[in-house]
Amino acid sequence: MPEKSAADIGKEAAARAAIALVEDGMRVGLGTGSTAAVMVRLLAERARAEGLALRCAATSQATADLASGLGLAIEALDDIGWLDLTIDGADEIDPDLHLIKGGGGALLREKIVAAASDRMVVIADQDKVVERLGMFHLPVEVIPFGWETTCRHVKSVLDEHDLAQRPVLVRRRDEQPYRTDEGNFILDLALEEICEPASLSRALNAIPGVVENGLFLNICSLALIGRHDGTMAELRRDPHELGEAEADE
Ligand code: 5RP
Repeated sequence: MPEKSAADIGKEAAARAAIALVEDGMRVGLGTGSTAAVMVRLLAERARAEGLALRCAATSQATADLASGLGLAIEALDDIGWLDLTIDGADEIDPDLHLIKGGGGALLREKIVAAASDRMVVIADQDKVVERLGMFHLPVEVIPFGWETTCRHVKSVLDEHDLAQRPVLVRRRDEQPYRTDEGNFILDLALEEICEPASLSRALNAIPGVVENGLFLNICSLALIGRHDGTMAELRRDPHELGEAEADE
């Protein structure tokens, strides 16, 4: 077995803490990405060992394939209707628990699933915590029809947000535009710093052709952050105050 990297140790610590929140009979949303994949494996192990009856909705085909291969019961979100808890990764997490997501291309289903959950818990290693969002490229999912026109509108929105001339990159895979599970394209916005996330998110989503953007604002209530030494930090969002509670393992 190759030695685990520091980031892998952090991801596993966060994933272990998250699956401890799952109770028998729960309806659980399963996120996408490498951290979420660790969580899915651990959850499947626990469900098998303890005989937990869980109903799960996946945020991507990749997660659905992984989870069902491990014996978790995956159902369509609409068949479950509402979820008790969604556990997902993130690309950046700021002190208000606003997130950038979509590095793995699943932002649309991830946002739909999170918005259909009583609680969204984010799991990540310590490198994902930032003071201000924006160094990670902000993914924007657009439909292929007229995407270059949509891209021009996106650039106008950036101009209006003092983000003129920031690169807008079409995500590619195997030299073709990357396709999401919905068959859409992704534009990655290299913004460096997002000063007005709510206004930017609204303006991007108002463009015809934009399906969704990767800013997750006021959706996550708890972030479980795994440090590279295997210890944990919890970032909680409270309507009145934000606190950091240490919970060393
Ligand atoms: C996928 C996502 C992922 O949650 C995000 O990219 C984090 O992935 P990883 O855990 O591999 O760093 O938003 O669309």
